Amino acid sequence: MTSASALLPAQVVVRVPGKVNLYLGVGPREFTGYHELATVFQAVSIFDEITVTAADTLQITGGGKYGHLVPKDETNLAWKAAQLVAKACGEEPNLAIHIDKSIPVAAGMAGGSADAAGTLLACDAYFGAGIPRDELDAMAAMLGSDVPFILHGGCALGSGRGDVLSPVITRGNFHWVFATFTEGLSTAMIYERTDEMRGMEFNQAPDVPNELLAALAQGNPAELGRHLHNDLQEAAIASRSVLKDVLEYGRDLGALGELVSGSGPTCAFLVRDEASAIDLVVGLKSSGMVDDAIHAHGPVHGARVIR
Ligand code: C5P
Repeated sequence: MTSASALLPAQVVVRVPGKVNLYLGVGPREFTGYHELATVFQAVSIFDEITVTAADTLQITGGGKYGHLVPKDETNLAWKAAQLVAKACGEEPNLAIHIDKSIPVAAGMAGGSADAAGTLLACDAYFGAGIPRDELDAMAAMLGSDVPFILHGGCALGSGRGDVLSPVITRGNFHWVFATFTEGLSTAMIYERTDEMRGMEFNQAPDVPNELLAALAQGNPAELGRHLHNDLQEAAIASRSVLKDVLEYGRDLGALGELVSGSGPTCAFLVRDEASAIDLVVGLKSSGMVDDAIHAHGPVHGARVIR
């Protein structure tokens, strides 16, 4: 007789992207503690790889560029993602999750959310569960505001706390340079600081400008560059003053537009093409102000099983 475990695959590998918010409009804090968002996400070509194999107990290991910074315990969203899927499948989460990490950590690029989204998909494939997409989306939203988008990828409008997605028409491929920092920023702290800076009376509902959506639909990077915006940027700069200089430096070197990515500290520069991206990478690296500069493009696919 064949045992159930003999039917499980030896391993499943999922590739999962990071993101940048092209527009991040933040409303006042709601009674839930979260803020209502009007955001446009774009998935970009900096990928983590999640490998799931059988183990005696649930465990996480990290590898790659930022593997040493990955939490190895239940504080990692990937841990919670594995538990959720195993429970839904009536299985024990006896899995080894290896995170090959290229997305910077605590950087405003949804690196932790990416690993959660990737683990959801990897565990679903590992157990052969075939969890319906709407149930996976619900699990993703339970794990974090950015996790549903990372599961989907591409480009999308996010509302609610960022977890309610609707499609955006986008044409072509946009080139980015991401200036990264070894030391991260806390997302919760940046939202709090934004509230403090705005004051109690702030009550404006966020809205994505039509000009930005039109630039995406036309595939026009120069026009898109003019409309990039992030309501969390001021608080990120107030918490890390070098970000202002880095953004100015990239603009002086010819970026079409620049902003802090999500809650930061990563700075994202939209550039015309690959050649401009390479020039900007060299310029930023030699500035001594950033720890790394990476060329990427978007939009790219969301979490995807690759083996
Ligand atoms: O949903 P996620 O766990 O990624 O959010 C991290 C933190 O960011 C939350 O605890 C909250 O402080 C803040 N946040 C918020 N409003 C949102 C999304 C996140 O205040 N829409």
